[in-house]
Amino acid sequence: MKPFFERCFPRAAAEGRAAVLGILNATPDSFSDGGAFCSPENAVAHARQLIRDGADAIDIGAESTRPGFSPVGADEQKRRLLPVLRAVRAAIPGAVVSVDTRSPEVAAAALEEGADIINDQGGLALDAMLATAVARRAPVVAMHGFEAHSRGLAGPQGVETPGAWVARGLAEIAHRAESHGIAAGSLCLDPGFGFGLKGAQNAALLDALPMVAAAVSPLPLLVGPSRKHFLPGMYPGEAGPDDATARFCADAVRLGARIVRVHAPKPVVAAMRGALPPPARLGSTTSTNDDAMRLAREGAPDGTCVVAETQTAGRGRAGHSWASPPGVSLYFSIVLRPALEPDSLALATIATGVAVASAIRETTGLDARIKWPNDVLVSGRKCAGLLCEADVAAADGPVIVAGIGINVNGTASSLPHRPIFPATTLASEAGRPFDRDCILSSCRLAVARWTRVLEAPGGRDAVLRSLESLDDIRGRAVCVALPSGQALSGVAAGIDEGGRLLVSTAAGADPVPVVAGSVSL
Ligand code: BTN
Repeated sequence: MKPFFERCFPRAAAEGRAAVLGILNATPDSFSDGGAFCSPENAVAHARQLIRDGADAIDIGAESTRPGFSPVGADEQKRRLLPVLRAVRAAIPGAVVSVDTRSPEVAAAALEEGADIINDQGGLALDAMLATAVARRAPVVAMHGFEAHSRGLAGPQGVETPGAWVARGLAEIAHRAESHGIAAGSLCLDPGFGFGLKGAQNAALLDALPMVAAAVSPLPLLVGPSRKHFLPGMYPGEAGPDDATARFCADAVRLGARIVRVHAPKPVVAAMRGALPPPARLGSTTSTNDDAMRLAREGAPDGTCVVAETQTAGRGRAGHSWASPPGVSLYFSIVLRPALEPDSLALATIATGVAVASAIRETTGLDARIKWPNDVLVSGRKCAGLLCEADVAAADGPVIVAGIGINVNGTASSLPHRPIFPATTLASEAGRPFDRDCILSSCRLAVARWTRVLEAPGGRDAVLRSLESLDDIRGRAVCVALPSGQALSGVAAGIDEGGRLLVSTAAGADPVPVVAGSVSL
């Protein structure tokens, strides 16, 4: 089964961007637009507007969960919701429709009427909701924090931070869903901004979002901050609630969210685009790493990206050249200014590898994996390479340039011969060509996200855990050609906290940490 994001938002996945869920309230008492869209005609007109404004899907709800709300019974929800759902389905057949309900009965009826996704703010607390989702193989969004919200309880207690509280709660939801038979590809998690959290705690949760995303990786995160009470405090300079929502969404996407649920998509789409400034596009250059490093030394900000159609002196690790024919592949470099101790720089390569492999998986559906230190493989063949170069003495503070080459289109036989390892292209592995710009944006977002993870407290562990699930060589017999010219044979035993490959050479002996080398299998 495809992952949730690709399955529910194929266009956003193919375009390498976050997805937008437009809110359609079929409720007379919703806090922001109560009553406006209760009739099927008004609802269809509004759904069309949401899509024109950039929504990838429409989220229809019939029960307001504003503070102090009164629960709405299943019959009344169905009475409000089903006519609207039918009308939207009939008028906009291609629309992806999700239904926002905590009631298993309403969810079952909505799926029967053709809803695509169930958005359960109750966090899959009811066994009947889990059973409905499993029986229909329906994609589900499960939100954290509803119980605390509805009972007016304080969320995180004692020393627990909002991020830790939410990460723990979401992991519990994911575990419960999995043990009831919900496939990982059917689940998306919502941290529940504003639910059980007071004003500033929401800002703390936003800061912790990279850690929350890493804790539940690879499940995608959906955030729903739209027009909520804590936004003016977080973004006091913004003109109105939709502008503040847009700023929040752009920040949340940069920090790890994949889907945003909002009332007004237009400003959100614009702000999210601005979160990723366009890359500098070059026709031919020597090496994009050189261009990016030059820009960085001139003060270019974090996230600056240089992409070239071809390189005349592209380079790889250990002095290898990286042949860069035009028209088929991607050659780009990203300026990173992470707040890291110098001894964490090796981990930047690991985090970039996790990011690139994840982005390739997301945009192509291929099982991309990592071969230490800097190769991305599909089916054991190399489809991408990374070269991270650092200037720790740069005037504006340490800078890393992450250079990434991806064999996207064309056939494996068209690739220049690289003796070290068999190579492939994403197109030959998938049997179809890909849009290079989509893969580029997806990689840029993922690199930004994983760099933020690395900076956060506990971030190293989160990166290493993700690497472990993508590691192509762990547990396999390897031979490492060391820079000294010697070779080390053994079994790859993982990566240590400094980013070194551990090689077990003899039973019972400590594994040997390797700082640099070329691995063959
Ligand atoms: C390797 O596999 O050894 C790393 C290859 C890295 C190639 C990319 S292409 C863009 C950037 N510019 C370069 O000169 N190298 C990197």
